[in-house]
Amino acid sequence: MEKYALVTGCSSGLGFEMVNWLLDEGYVVFGVSRSGLDINNGNYIDIVCDIRDEDEVREMVEMVNQNTYGLHLIINNAGIFEMASLKETTSESFLDHLQTNVQGTFHVLRSMEDFLIENETHIVTISSVASKKGFANVSAYCASKFALNGLIESVREEWKRLGVRFSTLKPGAIDTPLWDGVEDFDREEMMTIEDFMHVFSMVVDSPPTMQFPEISFMHKSGVLE
Ligand SMILES: NC(=O)c1ccc[n+]([C@@H]2O[C@H](COP(=O)([O-])OP(=O)(O)OC[C@H]3O[C@@H](n4cnc5c(N)ncnc54)[C@H](OP(=O)(O)O)[C@@H]3O)[C@@H](O)[C@H]2O)c1
Repeated sequence: MEKYALVTGCSSGLGFEMVNWLLDEGYVVFGVSRSGLDINNGNYIDIVCDIRDEDEVREMVEMVNQNTYGLHLIINNAGIFEMASLKETTSESFLDHLQTNVQGTFHVLRSMEDFLIENETHIVTISSVASKKGFANVSAYCASKFALNGLIESVREEWKRLGVRFSTLKPGAIDTPLWDGVEDFDREEMMTIEDFMHVFSMVVDSPPTMQFPEISFMHKSGVLE
């Protein structure tokens, strides 16, 4: 039987790697991003969608609906990150973090209820260590990731009756394009994408009776501060 996965934020960094790994594992994958991803694989379905926009998320659902009745895996990964002091953080940037990292995930989750497979679907969210602890100069990002956890924990309780699994990954810094243009951080002290994939693949391959409400991991030197 075919297994179906949806990955938001597929066009770069972790999302790109997760899509490729899932294709290698034999999943049919829906990849969601604003810029789109061109992968030459018959099992890959690209969906251009800004998850902040409810109408675009409705169109995304239409495309999923044309291809499957249910999703075995839903990966909430799309996110933005900007570094700025509180004073330099604009109201627009603060709102964009909330609209992308929290409300966007809310739009996606709300639209996914019809695709849940009882006792089967696994919802994996890529949160951050910055959802557990505040860091200087990332107030918008921290606020959005703390809120993301609240959203996920509430929906987990709501969908408990369906036997849906929820796992939330809270990694430290990983060397991806997210850090491009951010200075003063040593990329040698970040995890590699392979490090991240080690944990991600373990979570996805875990027995169907298990979930990981919170799994934190980081480079051996600790978190970047
Ligand atoms: N890298 C790290 O150090 C790190 C650490 C902890 C957690 N994380 C989390 O991991 C996730 C992925 O990060 P990454 O490092 O892979 O970053 P990245 O390379 O910047 O990728 C972010 C992805 O999110 C997509 N995206 C952003 N806004 C979107 C929107 N409105 N609608 C749809 N897609 C959108 C981007 O695609 P488009 O621009 O094409 O839309 C891109 O594919 C994020 O949630 C991030 O917070 C990262």
